[in-house]
Amino acid sequence: MIDFNGVCFAYDKKNILENVNLKINEGEFVAIVGRNGAGKTTLMKLFNGLLKPTSGSVTVEGLDTRTARTSELAKKVGFLFQNPDRQICQNTVKAEIEFGLKYVLSDKNEIQQRCRATLESFGFEGNKDPFSLSRGERQKVALASVLAVSPKIMVLDEPTTGLDYKECMQIMEIIKALNEKGTTVIMVCHDMELVTDFAKRVVVIGDGGALADDVCEKVMVNDSVLRRTSLAPPQIAELAIRLGEGFKGILTVDEMADCINAKK
Ligand SMILES: Nc1ncnc2c1ncn2[C@@H]1O[C@H](COP(=O)(O)OP(=O)(O)OP(=O)(O)O)[C@@H](O)[C@H]1O
Ligand SMILES: [Mg+2]
Repeated sequence: MIDFNGVCFAYDKKNILENVNLKINEGEFVAIVGRNGAGKTTLMKLFNGLLKPTSGSVTVEGLDTRTARTSELAKKVGFLFQNPDRQICQNTVKAEIEFGLKYVLSDKNEIQQRCRATLESFGFEGNKDPFSLSRGERQKVALASVLAVSPKIMVLDEPTTGLDYKECMQIMEIIKALNEKGTTVIMVCHDMELVTDFAKRVVVIGDGGALADDVCEKVMVNDSVLRRTSLAPPQIAELAIRLGEGFKGILTVDEMADCINAKK
């Protein structure tokens, strides 16, 4: 469904990504992790044609991002920016949600109907100024405006940074529900606990490419990759490693509780 084939990308002459090969299938939930400045946002922008590969190709459901129209790609790939304040550009929540819809739809009734449904499902007051809302609420507005379009693929660049625990869980539950209904989710995230709880596959970006690409269970215990990229595995996984034999492969609190109970 999404195919990165020998993708290289450079800003001016500075190489950021070199020879990235990545295939993502329909319905996957993939986390993209890596240290600051590794090129995660750059990689995300290649998914929807915001950036074009310097060489190699990116195809999304058969569309080559170098030649496809941006509006065609926008229908397929929803993009949530790292900072909602870079995304929000309208004076009311309603106008913000309509803004994205107008870009991909021409039928005014459909735009209104989808906007109403989105406002309702998120419980927003349409006439509010987005910038009068909290950071968490603004993140939700930005997410809602992307979801209104019903893209088959959601690309989320650190959707929970700067949010408190409750706001973070609200956003993650929305994303989880979407994925369960079949939307492909690709999410940059710094929080390894969230990655472990929600994603099935993890791609580690570093040194210009994918240093690891595997199921969560394998990547979170790959010591050399984690160390190379300064990523800390979930604390419970670290505890499991320290406890040694008998606790191997444990990544979540539930798994640890089950394992300890079984030993009683
Ligand atoms: N528009 C740009 N022009 C030139 N260099 C850029 C540009 N955007 C990013 N870079 C550089 O490219 C590299 C990768 O940046 P990118 O934003 O993709 O990293 P990241 O992994 O998303 O980082 P973070 O974790 O801080 O969000 C960095 O060295 C950054 O300084
Ligand atoms: Mg980034």
